[in-house]
Amino acid sequence: MSKYIIEGGHPLFGTVDVQGAKNAVLPIFAACVLTKSDVVIRRVPDLADVVSMENILKNLGVKVKKEGNVRVLSAKDMDSDNIPNELAKELRSSVFLLGSVIGRMKSSQVAYPGGCDIGLRPIDIHIKGLRDLGVVIEERAGYLFCDGSNMRGGEVVLDYPSVGATENVMLAAVLTEGETVVRNAAREPEIVDLQNFLVSLGAWVKGAGTSEIHIRGVKELCGADYNVMPDRICLGTWLLAAASCGGEVALKGGRKAEIYSLLCKLDKSSCHIQEDNGIIIIRATGEPVCSERISTRPYPGFPTDLQAQYCAYASAARGTCVVTENIFENRFRHVPELIKMGADITVRDRVAVIKGAGFLSGAEVTARDLRGGAALVIAGLVARGTTVIDDIRHIDRGYEAMEKTLSNIGAKIERI
Ligand code: EPZ
Repeated sequence: MSKYIIEGGHPLFGTVDVQGAKNAVLPIFAACVLTKSDVVIRRVPDLADVVSMENILKNLGVKVKKEGNVRVLSAKDMDSDNIPNELAKELRSSVFLLGSVIGRMKSSQVAYPGGCDIGLRPIDIHIKGLRDLGVVIEERAGYLFCDGSNMRGGEVVLDYPSVGATENVMLAAVLTEGETVVRNAAREPEIVDLQNFLVSLGAWVKGAGTSEIHIRGVKELCGADYNVMPDRICLGTWLLAAASCGGEVALKGGRKAEIYSLLCKLDKSSCHIQEDNGIIIIRATGEPVCSERISTRPYPGFPTDLQAQYCAYASAARGTCVVTENIFENRFRHVPELIKMGADITVRDRVAVIKGAGFLSGAEVTARDLRGGAALVIAGLVARGTTVIDDIRHIDRGYEAMEKTLSNIGAKIERI
């Protein structure tokens, strides 16, 4: 298994081009099966999760052409509605195809995507939402057998503002006759990006970014040439790395407005952040002091996908920080690894209390999940001495060549 070797203690200086958003490109790829015209998607990050989604699309009969970070997808000859277990278990986001395949084929057979490293990841809200649109869903032998022959627009009230369930209902509704309204919808920026993409295909969708989304079904969709939004979680990850290590880093393509919940939790005495026509510049001097209370919440609250990285930042800062993880039930797996690096963290239920001593020490650690792995990289960059991070395949799921990005701004990191 690949590892990272990091020599800590080097400040970061330079420029990072923020990659396209993993959590936008995955539902957008799923949406491509809704049209028989070719679709061009730009700023597609080179990630393991994107490859897994491409494999699922190819299995459905979709043609995928790769030209650098551009993909040309053609679902004209799509000839299957079946997502087998061996593909679904590779990628939880296969669940998005539940809605888009039903939207296109009026039927689908999708293996249960199953849980992952951070929690059980149930899909009950997805299923209820699709049933509210008239989809008949039978759960049998680990598969969902869906019949969408009598689908019609309607009112969908989500019990919880689930990102995936919101996206799934949008995907199922755009080709479904009648008007659909999704209430208690998730408000994440990736949902706005999905709406913008669907509208570029000729769909009628309004309200994404608010908790009420309206969709009017259309007969068919056309092609599009679309730029995926920048990845706000990568942006937050690089900001936390710079805030931890010190230095001056320019982040091209990031949008400050999408990470206000993080910016207000960074120590203003040690890092100054400004936005200059599309470029965010962080100047980090001195030793961060962190005595914040963090509670992960649906957008625009503090993102659960930055919780682990924030724990690493707080562990190396001075002060006591309390982090509550409200979204996923098993998202503190980075804590035992940070403790190996000298962090003082106690976890009770969903609350971690972090007593930052102002430094960490290099150690041999293991990535247990995607964002926990990114947290260990931040810890390794700031630690005294050398850190070895094992099982970095988790990191490859969401960060494009992380070692290259960080080496380009002065980090001493190599992949072996
Ligand atoms: C999306 O996952 C993201 N993934 C996650 O990013 C992100 O952490 C999450 O939204 C929250 O922001 C993608 O977009 C591909 P949810 P999703 O449905 O859609 C419960 C990363 O690191 N729930 O909003 O699965 C669920 O168990 C990944 O990039 C149900 O109970 O998130 C969780 O506790 C990790 N029933 C909570 O809701 C359901 O039917 C939030 O889940 C659906 C969800």
